[in-house]
Amino acid sequence: MPGGSFRSAAPGYAPGGDGPTVNTDGEVNTDDNASMDDEASTGDEASTGDERPARAGWPGGHGVWFAPGRANLMGEHTDYNEGLVLPFALAQGVTASVTRRDDGLLALRSKQMTDDVVTVPVSGLSPASVRGWAAYPAGVAWALRSEDVPVPGATIEIDSDLPVGAGVSSSAALECSVALGLCEISGVAMSRRALAAIARQAENEFVGAPTGIIDQHASLLCEAGHAMLLDCATRSISQVPFRPSAAGIVTLVIDTRVTHALVSGEYGRRRAQCEEAARQLGVPFLGQVTSVAGVSRLDDPVLRRRARHVVSDSARARAIASALDSGGTPADIYRYIGELLAEGHASLRDDFEVSWPEADIAVDAATGAGAYGAKMIGGGFGGSVLALVPAERIAAVRTAVTEAFAARSATPPEFMDATPSAAARRLA
Ligand code: GLA
Repeated sequence: MPGGSFRSAAPGYAPGGDGPTVNTDGEVNTDDNASMDDEASTGDEASTGDERPARAGWPGGHGVWFAPGRANLMGEHTDYNEGLVLPFALAQGVTASVTRRDDGLLALRSKQMTDDVVTVPVSGLSPASVRGWAAYPAGVAWALRSEDVPVPGATIEIDSDLPVGAGVSSSAALECSVALGLCEISGVAMSRRALAAIARQAENEFVGAPTGIIDQHASLLCEAGHAMLLDCATRSISQVPFRPSAAGIVTLVIDTRVTHALVSGEYGRRRAQCEEAARQLGVPFLGQVTSVAGVSRLDDPVLRRRARHVVSDSARARAIASALDSGGTPADIYRYIGELLAEGHASLRDDFEVSWPEADIAVDAATGAGAYGAKMIGGGFGGSVLALVPAERIAAVRTAVTEAFAARSATPPEFMDATPSAAARRLA
């Protein structure tokens, strides 16, 4: 069996076996590239290798901040269940140019939404008082003020090379770039973890999308050349080396061009089902269930399947992190990860029921054309698929996916290289 040498490095998890043992201390031994520390400031010294000091208290009036989108190798819908996730930051993201103003107004513009300029008094912000794309930056200003950050008026100009509704976290990238900028022009230093919580609060309470914590953590805390194993219960982070290109592998995002909306009901329904399953199992969150066998006590077959997905996806996240950290042969490691991606996709499709036809088509076509494995990423019901593809098969994979879409008269897919990249940072 290829990869047998590191299968054993995935503690407590054997695919197809009894299921995982999820250890909630979140510590998987990784390389010497330590996780970003909680006291990291909001400035430009993040994981980028940039050694300039943070500018806490910077009274200046203008700056430009970038925050990346993310792809998630494994652990979908596990974040709000306090399980494990394994995202990496993309090179693509959102840029926020933030200029302080003294009239107390927040003016929001986007290069992608030129006919939708929003101007509101900062002091008048309240949940749902702003709609559409501008709700995300406005929500961040509101959430910061609710934490007593004296956010002044500001003009914020947004630019983005992330597709919206494509499951690559454009919303969190928008929130996090703005959060960094607003904090700094307010003269306040905040840890990146605190900022992630602020950004999530904006999304949950101001925008009204009941999402978990993975996206904001990924955007603010991932490191270049790494995937980040995050234990959503303890918030402990392990940065795991992840450099597919060094092994001749392309991590390809296939945007199926079916857009999703997390404020729509299905995401919230899945969340409620997980909460009910946890309640029936007598645990606060499904992330505390340590083996797939542990969900068999659930009488309701739907709740049982939902819970099985959450528990098994957390275990797969840990197994991939362990494999990446195992020092095995890259081809074996990536073949093994590919198998887990296939399992993860099947689990999302059959147990959690959040996949959509174009995602299944993309997964099948990519795998049939030589990808090691592929899975949908993000909340589901639209968005993207992530495929691990040997570089020599990349043209064949793109062609196969494009032709499979054409054969079903689906909107042509778009492709994006997904290079594990650095977290949010100040650009200028
Ligand atoms: C969306 C949410 C996340 C997470 C994923 C599914 O991206 O924003 O919090 O729940 O779906 O893994």
